[in-house]
Amino acid sequence: MAETYKVAVLAGDGIGPEITQQALRVLRLIEQKRDVVFACDEVEFGAAAYFSTGKAFPDATKKACDEADAILKGPIGLSHEESEKIPVEERPERGALLPMRRRLNTYANFRPISLPKGMAHFSPLKPEIVSEGIDIMLIRELIGGLYFGSKERGETEEGLRYVKESLDYDEQQIRQILVVAFKESMKRKKILHNIHKSNVLISSVLWNEVLEEVALDYPEVRVIHMLVDAAATHLCLNPCQFDVMVMENMFGDILSDQAGGILGSLGLMPSACIGPDKAYYEPSHGSAPDIAGKNLANPYSMIGSVALMLDMSFGMTEEAKAVWQAMQSVFQAGFSTGDLSSASSGNTLLSTSEFGDKVLESLEGLIV
Ligand code: IPM
Ligand code: MN
Repeated sequence: MAETYKVAVLAGDGIGPEITQQALRVLRLIEQKRDVVFACDEVEFGAAAYFSTGKAFPDATKKACDEADAILKGPIGLSHEESEKIPVEERPERGALLPMRRRLNTYANFRPISLPKGMAHFSPLKPEIVSEGIDIMLIRELIGGLYFGSKERGETEEGLRYVKESLDYDEQQIRQILVVAFKESMKRKKILHNIHKSNVLISSVLWNEVLEEVALDYPEVRVIHMLVDAAATHLCLNPCQFDVMVMENMFGDILSDQAGGILGSLGLMPSACIGPDKAYYEPSHGSAPDIAGKNLANPYSMIGSVALMLDMSFGMTEEAKAVWQAMQSVFQAGFSTGDLSSASSGNTLLSTSEFGDKVLESLEGLIV
C-alpha cells in the first residue's frame, strides 16, 4: 500500500493559484516516481474565500487544515484599493493568515535565505561579497509579539486620537522558539546569531535571559548577539557571516524581506511554519496583484515550499534535495524569470508555466 499524505492546498490570492499549480505538478511527479500518494484537498483562503463565502478563513478551510497532514498555502492579499472593499476584520491578513497561525500554533517560521554559488549573480550585492553564495536559515517567532498583543485605539483627554499596541511574550513562548533555533544550529554550523534590541526593549532583555538558560543545553553552539538594526546592515555588508539567525516576530518579518532583497527577489523566499502538531508551508512574499493571472510570476518560492514540506513533514529528504537541485539547474542553464532578470540580461526569460516545465524536466532525471 502506498503511503498517503493528506495535503490541504490553499492557493490564496493574486499570483497564488498560478504558482500553486506549478507546485502541485512537482507533487504529481513525485507520486509517479515513489510509492506515495498526496491526497490534495484544494480549499479557499484569503480574499478569494471572502468574496465567495463572506469569510476569509471559512469553516470548510479550517476543517481541511485540521484533517491534513500538512498544508500548502499560497500568498494572500489584494491591492490597496481592492482591500478597501472588504471589512477590516475580514481582510486576508487579519481575517485569515494571522488566525491560521494562531489556530495551528505554528510558532516556528523557517525562512531559508539561500542563493547557491551558481545563482549568486542574481544578488544585487557586489560579486566579492556573495561570490560563494548565501546560505542562512532565518528563524522567526511567528505567533507572539506585536502581531498578537492587545490593541487599543481611542482619544486622549485633550481630544487627540491615540493607539496603543503591546509586544507580549512569556518565557515559555521565548524558550520554545530558542530551542528550535539551537537544534537547527546543531544540524548546521553551530553558530547562532541572536537578533534583539535589548538596548531599548525589555522584551529583548527577557528573551536574552531565557537564551542564556537554553544555551546551557547546547554548549557546542556559539552564540553571537547582534542588535536588530546592526543585523540589517550586516546582512548587506557581509551576509556570509550568518548561519542560523533567530528573532521575534516583527524583527523577523522585516529582516526576512530584506533577505529577499539581497537574494535579488522575494520570489526566492519559500518558508515553513511549524507547530507542535501542524505545519504549513508558504512563500514569504505577497500576492503580487499587479502581475496576477499573467503567467509571469516566478513559482520558485511555492515549489521551494513544497520541497520544505517534503523534507520537514514527510521525511522525504532526498526528494526535497532533488527539487532544489532541479530549480537551480534551470537557472544555471541560463533561464530566468522577470523578477530576477531583465530582457537584456542574456538570460532567457520564462513564464510561470515554462519555469514549471523546466523544473519538471530536470526533476524527471534527478529522481529515478
Ligand atoms: C509574512 C507576511 C505577513 C506577515 C503579512 C501578510 C501579514 O508579510 O508572512 O511575512 O507580516 O507576517
Ligand atoms: Mn512579511
